[in-house]
Amino acid sequence: MASREDNGIVLDKEVLSESYMPETIIAKDSQIKELQGCISPTLQGQKPMNVWLHGSPGTGKTTVSCYVLKEISDQAGVGGVYVNCWKYNSFYSVLDFMLNQMRRGFGDARDTTVKLQQLERVIKNRPFLIVLDEVDFVPSRERNSMIYNLLSIGKVGLICISESRYPLLALEPRVKSRLSPQVLSFDNYTTGELAEILRQRASIALHPEAWDSSVLKLVSRRALGDARVAIHTLRNAAVYAEAEGAIKLNGVHVDKGFSDTGGLRRTYELKRLTEHHRLLYEIIKGSPGITSPELFKTYLDKCRSRNWKAIASRTFSLYMQKMAGLKLIAAERARVRGRVFAFRPVEG
Ligand SMILES: Nc1ncnc2c1ncn2[C@@H]1O[C@H](COP(=O)(O)OP(=O)(O)OP(=O)(O)O)[C@@H](O)[C@H]1O
Ligand SMILES: [Mg+2]
Repeated sequence: MASREDNGIVLDKEVLSESYMPETIIAKDSQIKELQGCISPTLQGQKPMNVWLHGSPGTGKTTVSCYVLKEISDQAGVGGVYVNCWKYNSFYSVLDFMLNQMRRGFGDARDTTVKLQQLERVIKNRPFLIVLDEVDFVPSRERNSMIYNLLSIGKVGLICISESRYPLLALEPRVKSRLSPQVLSFDNYTTGELAEILRQRASIALHPEAWDSSVLKLVSRRALGDARVAIHTLRNAAVYAEAEGAIKLNGVHVDKGFSDTGGLRRTYELKRLTEHHRLLYEIIKGSPGITSPELFKTYLDKCRSRNWKAIASRTFSLYMQKMAGLKLIAAERARVRGRVFAFRPVEG
């Protein structure tokens, strides 16, 4: 095996992680400018324009919003909070999270109205930005009242993010009219843009002799416009190469690294489904091999305890077919006769 004195490939793994904020953002100048323009009234103490960002996974929506939010807060002291609604998916938990971030509103009130009043008292009449990332994860009725009520606070501006435009179009008319957002769309990255993003990371994260443009191009082609997939592929490839004792990344490492991003794609596929799909998936994950009648019963129980309106059994079958089609779950006939299936999550 060839060797270098210092035979490590990965110098800084953190730079290839999801939470790393790049120093400069590549190829999104126009979106950054537009977003900065929308929130610029806050610099004069005014209410900002609301914005709705949409685009496929890995197109930089979260990165651009966090960058712009941090910039205006560092440079002009404008207040703001970033909330990931995938994690905090009810109006109450969004409010609770925001108050915690601002180190305010402690206490045991479990009431949305109380939390909203606490937030109003903290924000007062100052301009304030709230990023609601993955906003479609808050169930539709609550999403409407969340947006409507947050916008009733003084000079609050919302930056909502979703994958498609549908959650915006589906808002109730009175909510939509109060929000009236500027819509910004995020296109998939081109192969050249992805290579640029990778170059920026590789030059900090990897040994300079461990990679070249051709490897970055291979990774970029594989990632199909998704920067997250590109960065993870590069990281996995580097880890493989290092474990093998190689000193330079090659196409085989890239292939292996790419096939490992299967789990990543799965998470993002699940994100696109409804909360009912996700609940069903969670139940199957918790009890692999569960049969269809058991699954439906557990699902109904969970809906009852969450106060959700359950889907009908016909829709249930369609949902299961959809998840099997996406290869999130595998279904096999559990009995010789009848239409009872056993479900398990597909690993990998
Ligand atoms: N223009 C860019 N320059 C540098 N890094 C980027 C850029 N765009 C995205 N990235 C990186 O790619 C990854 C995914 O980006 P991001 O999370 O912003 O995508 P997203 O559009 O929010 O995706 P999703 O819809 O799945 O949430 C992150 O690690 C981010 O740092
Ligand atoms: Mg995102």
